[in-house]
Amino acid sequence: MSESHQARVRAQFGASAPDYVASAGRGALRVLDVATGGGHAALAFSAFTPTVVSTDLTPSMLEAARDFVQGKAASNVRFVASDVEALPFRDTSYGVVTCRLAAHHFPALLPALKEITRVLRPGGSLLVEDILGHDDRELAAFILEVEKRRDPSHVRALTHREWEAFLKAAGMTVIDEGTLSKARPWEEWTARMRMTPEAKADLERFVLDAPGSCREAFRFTIEDGRIQTFSDRLILIRADRD
Ligand SMILES: C[S@@+](CC[C@H](N)C(=O)[O-])C[C@H]1O[C@@H](n2cnc3c(N)ncnc32)[C@H](O)[C@@H]1O
Repeated sequence: MSESHQARVRAQFGASAPDYVASAGRGALRVLDVATGGGHAALAFSAFTPTVVSTDLTPSMLEAARDFVQGKAASNVRFVASDVEALPFRDTSYGVVTCRLAAHHFPALLPALKEITRVLRPGGSLLVEDILGHDDRELAAFILEVEKRRDPSHVRALTHREWEAFLKAAGMTVIDEGTLSKARPWEEWTARMRMTPEAKADLERFVLDAPGSCREAFRFTIEDGRIQTFSDRLILIRADRD
């Protein structure tokens, strides 16, 4: 870029920088992370946004997230206990809402999405990552049983079509979406939920006795009769408030 053009750009924007920031609109620069868990998404966004608010239903989770985020020297994240269905924030007060690996815990997605829509400014974005549900009934029932035995608070993973329908009904439009596959090391995945040895052994029997087509669909690897890993698919969505 020529120096004269650089000078033109600086002259154009230099004097009006504060106005430009404000013109991004009400709430545009504020990020809300719902069901923040350990606070990983909040920490990631805190690096390039002035204000992040982390919410979660579980107070001890929020405390752990606060310790984790503050331990990383991020001082622009606030923590607020709240159910996603009743967010204690004004209408249109956020530019971005993130919801990572949590929607499958919500008892119903539509009330949560309506509440998220309410706090988003028009044109603001919801960014979701979650476990993707299966269209095939047998596969969906198999993996739901595996998930619920490991974590009884797992409700259900939604399919592409369900996500799209609920987002539309809540007043949002899907702008972008994708999927990715995630490998789950079995011992670590089961240990994270502190299953009893009996519950873990029952779950392993359930997987090993299931039809081969179920194990193949989720790429279970088994060595000497012991489960090593499996894979599930994640959905990534950006949906903007209408
Ligand atoms: C798997 S963890 C969180 C994941 C976290 N967002 C991450 O990226 O690692 C799921 C979290 O959802 C929270 N949660 C479940 N139902 C909720 C609800 N209705 N409202 C708010 N938080 C909820 C749980 O307390 C838990 O911290």
